[in-house]
Amino acid sequence: MTAKIIDIARDPEGALEAALQVLGEGFPVAIPTETVYGLAADATNAAAIARIYETKGRPRFNPLICHMADLQMAERYGQFDPLSRKLAEAFWPGPLTLILPLVEQSGIHPLATAGLDTVGIRVPKGFAAQLIRHFGRPLAAPSANTSGKVSPTSAAHVAEDLGSKLTLILDGGAAPVGVESTIVRVEDGRIRLLRPGGVSAEEIEAVTGIAVVRPDGPSATIEAPGMLASHYAPGADVRLNAETVEKGEALILFGGQPAAGADRAHAVFDLSPSGDLAEAAANLFDYLKQADSTGATRIAVASIPAHGLGEAINDRLARAAAPRE
Ligand code: TXA
Ligand code: MG
Repeated sequence: MTAKIIDIARDPEGALEAALQVLGEGFPVAIPTETVYGLAADATNAAAIARIYETKGRPRFNPLICHMADLQMAERYGQFDPLSRKLAEAFWPGPLTLILPLVEQSGIHPLATAGLDTVGIRVPKGFAAQLIRHFGRPLAAPSANTSGKVSPTSAAHVAEDLGSKLTLILDGGAAPVGVESTIVRVEDGRIRLLRPGGVSAEEIEAVTGIAVVRPDGPSATIEAPGMLASHYAPGADVRLNAETVEKGEALILFGGQPAAGADRAHAVFDLSPSGDLAEAAANLFDYLKQADSTGATRIAVASIPAHGLGEAINDRLARAAAPRE
């Protein structure tokens, strides 16, 4: 099997029709979202969800994010408290996932929620939302990569990794955000950050006037089990906060500030020469993959600012550098 790739810009109707057909038959389709490419399947169909896990080689206990066309659709599946609704109204469609109590008998299959009584919901932008509206049911969609690998931000990334296991990949160009959605859970009027992502904690605080509570250490891995330490791992080892470059290493830097010895680097990638964190997030996974494919002995990454989207970037880099199982 080799996946057919349809360019949405060239053939929007053909893309929609082909995707609806595959989804209706209970198979996954790789689709672009503003964050990363997703491996989407009918969230109400057990076999379809099982095929996501099978394609990714993902452990079964991971709950998946369920994507909705809009807030109105989301309310049929998740129970919104006022603060969660406020966040939805402020950031949807967009890169924010809310963990909500699951509506009983909603139709979402327990395989999608890993049997939890909560559900992770997000409304994506653009074509993905349009597809869900036409499909009429939520789409469960983790990132469209083999479990543990770097997330895909282009159709080419997906084709390279999973092309032989899929029938259809929709090409929507480079994912503009480049890192996965921010995951939060509202509890007792507090906003807990379970995964930093495309919406910064500062933006959430500006909208709500409430301080975001960050996870303290590894306990967060129980709540968001997809957040296992060695995630997003390229093949080469990754060394963080590099101040000097060692021979044979590929260097990833930010804001045009090369580390000492950059001239002996195997290859150099600047996430954003102008120092723009949004641009850096959009380039992160692609540059990790490119650095990896240079044949460098290791990937050295210079320090990246910690504020705003830098929190999500540093989170993904820490996982890329974590010891492998
Ligand atoms: O940007 C994104 O969020 C992308 C695109 C495709 O939308 N999707 C994505 O999904 O990153 P995935 O499956 O790779 O990440 C799902 C994360 C995992 O960490 C999972 O544990 C957490 O969401 N999650 C999902 N449902 C949950 C729940 N009910 N409770 C706690 N965590 C949940
Ligand atoms: Mg993923």
